[in-house]
Amino acid sequence: MNERVAIILAAGMSSRMNTKLPKVLHEVCGRPMLAYVLDACRGAGVKKAYVVVGYNKEAVIEAFAHDKDIVWVEQKEQKGTGHAVLCCKEHLANFDGETLVLCGDGPLIRTETLSTLTGKHESEKASATIATAILDDPTGYGRIVRDAYGNMQGIVEHGDCTEKQRDIKEVNPSYYCFNNKVLFDALANIKPNNVKNEYYLTDALHLIISNGLKVVAVTAVAAEDAISVNSRAQLSETSKVMQKRILNKLMAGGVTIVAPDNTWIDARAKIGQDTVIEPFVYIHGEVEIGSNCRVGPFAFVRNGTTIGSDVVLGVFTEIKNAQLGDGVRARHHSYIGDAVVGENVNIGAGSITANFDGKDVHETRIGKDSYIGSGSILIAPIELTAGSHIKAGSVVGRENQ
Ligand code: UD1
Ligand code: CA
Repeated sequence: MNERVAIILAAGMSSRMNTKLPKVLHEVCGRPMLAYVLDACRGAGVKKAYVVVGYNKEAVIEAFAHDKDIVWVEQKEQKGTGHAVLCCKEHLANFDGETLVLCGDGPLIRTETLSTLTGKHESEKASATIATAILDDPTGYGRIVRDAYGNMQGIVEHGDCTEKQRDIKEVNPSYYCFNNKVLFDALANIKPNNVKNEYYLTDALHLIISNGLKVVAVTAVAAEDAISVNSRAQLSETSKVMQKRILNKLMAGGVTIVAPDNTWIDARAKIGQDTVIEPFVYIHGEVEIGSNCRVGPFAFVRNGTTIGSDVVLGVFTEIKNAQLGDGVRARHHSYIGDAVVGENVNIGAGSITANFDGKDVHETRIGKDSYIGSGSILIAPIELTAGSHIKAGSVVGRENQ
């Protein structure tokens, strides 16, 4: 296998999103779009990703501060995708391997597709290979133009298409694999001769072909993966596809999802075998739920929560940043926030932890085998020893002492 790096384009300011946040930080099922693209690259053997940032770059760099395999490259002025790739030249001028070029706004990208792309690139000994998709409605995408023998001739942007080219349904989802040297040689010669007056990366392919080098287009991208997020409507479409993938993966792992169309589970959530997720459950953030639990209907499980096995969280229960031991029961209308709850604790209907004093949040600790009667308020910080019995309707804690 050749050494492989990726260039990920993420400098655009995305006027069509009508946002102040950099586009690639918009979340899909709880994670920023860019995170999915990076993961797909890592899965495909990429050791280093050169991420091109521009608009509000500080925010993007901060959000990925923990990812040590990223090299940040600044594109000061957004002059097009070709120009964005050229900004990486000083880092890659002497690199003699394969360079993937991908867009940060295509979070539905999969490792398997990238592997098909690089596999084809290598088996065909191509100078450049792209993966394409066939769309019923290709509006907005660059069209793949092939000759009578099916050989790729180039990519024409939607705005530059002739009437006839607009009918082409094979599009460019921006999955490219280049021989690095060939890429930068071609980019040195692209011109902004198009309706947008931009330096198009897509023009590099045409130049490579005219230099007599081999460019291969492999139809390998599923139509639903090809969505490039340029608007809020496309963002929601993307989230819907991603959510379906997340739920399918959980179900394959032995989790029952009673109503997949009415359940929302974060990409980061982990759920154990034989747990049942009832309708209208929302699980957000880094959450771990053990096996044989029953969650919902209408439960909200929030970031930082770890739940043991055989736990029941019933209707209108909200859990935030809490650890719940095995066998905990909170069947009706509870809020448990910033808490550590021991095994087999029963939280009665309508009982809550009052974790916020108007300024700070405080912790509640409930020892194992405790019983919290209905309608109780536990004012944090508070610690109840194991086996505590709190009568229904109690107000327990500092303010009450
Ligand atoms: C691009 C492709 C098009 C393809 C489509 C789908 C080109 C010229 N067109 O069009 O063929 O069908 O993607 O994926 O490449 N960016 C920069 N700097 C720039 C301009 C863009 O970093 O100067 C980044 C954007 O942030 C974005 C990505 O490049 O992440 C693609 O740019 P965008 O403007 O969305 O291109 P499309 O019009 O979607
Ligand atoms: Ca796009």
